Amino acid sequence: MENKINPADVPKKKLYTGEEIPSVGLGTFGSDKYTPEQVSNAVYGAILSGYRLIDCASVYQNEDRIGEVLQRVFSKTDIKREELFITSKVWNDMHREVLKSCEKSLKDLQLDDIDLYFVHWPFPNYHAPGCSGDSRNPDSKPFSVDEFMDTWRQCEELVEKGMVRHIGMSNMTIPKLEAVLPLCKIKPAALELECHPGFQQPELFEYAVSHGIQPIGYCPIGSPSRPERDRTSEDVADTQMPEIVEIAEAHRVHPALICLKWAVQRGQIPIPFSVKEPQYISNLKCVTEDPLTEEEMGRIQKADKNCRLIKGQVFLWQGAAGWEDLWDLGGEITGA
Ligand SMILES: NC(=O)c1ccc[n+]([C@@H]2O[C@H](COP(=O)([O-])OP(=O)(O)OC[C@H]3O[C@@H](n4cnc5c(N)ncnc54)[C@H](OP(=O)(O)O)[C@@H]3O)[C@@H](O)[C@H]2O)c1
Repeated sequence: MENKINPADVPKKKLYTGEEIPSVGLGTFGSDKYTPEQVSNAVYGAILSGYRLIDCASVYQNEDRIGEVLQRVFSKTDIKREELFITSKVWNDMHREVLKSCEKSLKDLQLDDIDLYFVHWPFPNYHAPGCSGDSRNPDSKPFSVDEFMDTWRQCEELVEKGMVRHIGMSNMTIPKLEAVLPLCKIKPAALELECHPGFQQPELFEYAVSHGIQPIGYCPIGSPSRPERDRTSEDVADTQMPEIVEIAEAHRVHPALICLKWAVQRGQIPIPFSVKEPQYISNLKCVTEDPLTEEEMGRIQKADKNCRLIKGQVFLWQGAAGWEDLWDLGGEITGA
């Protein structure tokens, strides 16, 4: 394949267990726009072109197709299971049945274990796939330390049983982490969080790093294809931010690649999504060449717009004031 990237040339990060993880992965959420087949074909092509980290989740409804292409990789190439780093996530409606959810992901992905298994959201609040932005589930409730820890204990059991090798949290805030980290028998190895130039989350990022938890940045390009329910008129498009556009012109690349170079040089692991071969190849290749200068890194840092794109309003409980309540903006857990 043309433009194949040697996985050895892709920078790595070290988890607190000492294990290495590639510094760029492929996202697999089709944003209600791309079919499971398109996504799984991209997973196959991406692995053949050099990707070794694939970010999956049961709610993306394509793990069975991804499992098929993983088998194809193992049977048709000399790439071995141990060379891949596969993540998955327990969806909100399975917090009381994590074992069952993980068994299903293992079966769908056709794997004996998952490298990193996340609690996708810290609430059991469920929305139907493909729902609209104003859809609300009357059973939704605020974050509860006890309920979250019950879910986390089940994740710890998955590690003890050898079904997953690391566990992680996603969509957390500092107040929530402060409440739960002291209670963990097994510390999260990674934290998945929204992270792109227009929404850098510097405090949460620093908090994770200082606790030995690897940040994994989702929507690293600003998720230009995200579902309608995740769009508002105030949203900033990262690839149109003047700083990103000017730096892209200087490097003669698409602005998307500047977002990814910035992410890797800052220290989070971006997991860009694309089903288009030239895009996913350039998304991996860009971190192996032509880095940003310190001055460019500083310029992007200053360009932060604090513009959250995935506000999560479909997870709101009755009585919540607005999406801000999900993110503990007042410095304390809201609604608990
Ligand atoms: N933990 C969580 O709660 C959570 C939440 C959201 C996402 N995620 C994970 O993060 C992954 C990435 O997030 P995302 O898919 O929302 O957003 P993203 O990676 O920021 O954006 C993906 C879109 O960017 C465009 N793109 C990709 N590469 C490009 C390139 N080289 N040049 C120009 N455009 C490019 C494509 O748009 P077109 O399709 O229009 O070409 C693609 O669909 C997801 O797939 C999922 O695995 C996790």
